[in-house]
Amino acid sequence: MNVSRTKVVQVDKDEPDERIIKEAGELIKAGGLVAFPTETVYGLGANAFDGRAAKKIYAAKGRPSDNPLIVHIASVAELERIAPRASERAMLLAQEYWPGPLTMILRKADIVPNEVTGGLETVAVRLPKHEVARRFIAASGGYVAAPSANLSGRPSPTKAAHVVEDLFGRVDMIIDAGEADIGLESTIVDLTTDIPAILRPGYITTDQIRRIAGEAAEGFRAIGADGGAVPKAPGMKYRHYAPKGEMTLVEGDAKKVAEFINGAIAKKTRLGESAAVLCSEENKALYEEAYALPLGSLKDDDEIAFHLFGALRAMDEKGVCHIYSETFDTKRIGAAIMNRLLKAAGNRVVQV
Ligand code: TXA
Ligand code: MG
Repeated sequence: MNVSRTKVVQVDKDEPDERIIKEAGELIKAGGLVAFPTETVYGLGANAFDGRAAKKIYAAKGRPSDNPLIVHIASVAELERIAPRASERAMLLAQEYWPGPLTMILRKADIVPNEVTGGLETVAVRLPKHEVARRFIAASGGYVAAPSANLSGRPSPTKAAHVVEDLFGRVDMIIDAGEADIGLESTIVDLTTDIPAILRPGYITTDQIRRIAGEAAEGFRAIGADGGAVPKAPGMKYRHYAPKGEMTLVEGDAKKVAEFINGAIAKKTRLGESAAVLCSEENKALYEEAYALPLGSLKDDDEIAFHLFGALRAMDEKGVCHIYSETFDTKRIGAAIMNRLLKAAGNRVVQV
């Protein structure tokens, strides 16, 4: 890695200092790496037309090179250059949900390098809503390839401190604009198939996609012959969001769940192994205070989504060996919450 020093700069979320945005844009144009805030999670950006710069992203993150990057743009008109044959459906979705937490998979133009798409004929495109992201993308020339700004396998960063933890010394600049609004990555919808397929659930729900596109399949629920999920988004096959401790989801009636988890925690602590439980605000009284980490109220799934990745990182920081979690309703953003929890737990679920 030839980046020995990383510049960390703070900017206002709504009115960032134009000089800093310009400096960040120049770094991207020169082939550098800049981490930046979006409304979902922080991204690690490089010039999307520069294959060598894209390669640096994989090196900095320790990311497998077959896992493609999302190209971030700052206006719908910029779609033309990288995905000129976008369908009418795609344009309707763009009109409705861009700028915002939606990524579309489209047929790519030749100009998009293989290093960005992992050799695929398609490209993932997103137009973020975050003001800092949009100004930064525009200052960078309009096309920024960016995965989430975490080390490969760790939870996505929802604030700059997470990026510093993972990537300090590995990137040129980190733009700090406080916490991301949503805290979970964008919904990914594949528009290259007959029926639009949702490859990763997010803040924009399946129903919202169906309302505009007419139909949509939940591709992320596909089950393979071996009982495992068949990932269409290459990145979804890797172990993700995984805390260092062993994680188990416990599903069932709240009281029974708490009984099971309390029993398991007692057993582990007797063995001298640390344990903790991720739970709802409503259920936290069912657990001993020392072990419970409430994510938010069951009445506010946005709050649970917002706290999830930070909580997984906190488990690592405290060196927790055994992490238990309640499961959550899959309505609205709940589908995305459960998708990330299942990945973090390597699909380990106990029914009680
Ligand atoms: O909210 C987000 O989407 C954040 C922010 C920074 O925009 N980005 C993000 O990027 O989550 P990343 O790289 O962590 O996740 C992108 C996912 C990966 O699972 C990748 O495999 C998939 O998108 N993907 C990218 N290009 C694809 C393509 N052409 N076809 C199918 N899946 C693709
Ligand atoms: Mg990621």
